[in-house]
Amino acid sequence: MTTVETTRPLTEIGARDLRELPKGHLHLHLEAAMRPATLFEMCEQLGVDVPPTSGFVDFSEFGACYLALLTVLREPSNLDRLVDEVFEDQAAQGVVYVELSVSPTFYREVYGSLSAALARLIALAEAASAAHGIAFGLMPTVDRMASIEESIEVARVAVEFAGRGVVSLGLASDERGYPCRDFAEAFAIAKAAGLQAAPHAGELVGPESVREALDDLKADRVLHGVRAVEEPALVAELAERGVPLDVCPTSNVLLSVVPELGAHPLPLLLEAGVRCSINADDPLLFGPDILAEYEVCRSVLGLGDEQLAACAWTSIETTLAPDAVKAAARERIDAWLR
Ligand code: HPA
Ligand code: ZN
Repeated sequence: MTTVETTRPLTEIGARDLRELPKGHLHLHLEAAMRPATLFEMCEQLGVDVPPTSGFVDFSEFGACYLALLTVLREPSNLDRLVDEVFEDQAAQGVVYVELSVSPTFYREVYGSLSAALARLIALAEAASAAHGIAFGLMPTVDRMASIEESIEVARVAVEFAGRGVVSLGLASDERGYPCRDFAEAFAIAKAAGLQAAPHAGELVGPESVREALDDLKADRVLHGVRAVEEPALVAELAERGVPLDVCPTSNVLLSVVPELGAHPLPLLLEAGVRCSINADDPLLFGPDILAEYEVCRSVLGLGDEQLAACAWTSIETTLAPDAVKAAARERIDAWLR
């Protein structure tokens, strides 16, 4: 009889510590990765009202909350602080590689040009990466509600820094009425320079949007993509082609993409063989950061440690993170499972 074994707390015998699982955080929007306390302090210093960070009922209201965050970042020292704190927070949760979605157009005016804004973001990320010991790549992100010309401009500036801090091109904001196909030229420019195509799709619009992300943008990864479950043939194709989804469970509930956490399709997608990573999207606005999202996937969605480790490996392996980061993560994931 192993009485000692059976009386040990669950955390010792069963639940491995998810903080120790090396993770990539691939779907994280810089501004909404701000600490709540930092937002308060910055607003106080600038003498402006604290914008609402909850209470939105749909994507339009969410978008307005997001844009309000930009006010405090017009002060350059606040952007410096934000980037450093984001890396510190990610490192503390066991993130070894962070791929940050940034919109250089937000910063064009303050820094003088898109190129100068992106150069500044890269310099800040390099310093924070060295200070906190995690690797990074930037994902300059096109606002699908802005013009096609602007999307091409963002793609060109992303390419200018390809392999020098930039790893992918993103596409965000409201999918409804702004289909992926409109951005084919921007994504072709990015892909020709070796960047990954990483559009949001299959969040506010159904499987047809994921289909366009694959066919028209040649997506290497799809951010969200969860509404692919509405078309079984598409799920099978994602599995077969190995195109990963960068999934954000809590975001999907708060923006009414799924009715409740328990109904999230992540387990179904994984069982169908679709590679998925687990992410927080906008922790300031949605609540949980990446570690809490992994905990939710374990406790509410019922993912086992093998599945959680597979998601963590997807979050590293399917990116352009340096080979040394991938090799070290693979070893640590294997050790975590042993
Ligand atoms: N969807 C689209 N755009 C966004 C999101 C999102 O979840 N978060 C920040 N911008
Ligand atoms: Zn997002």
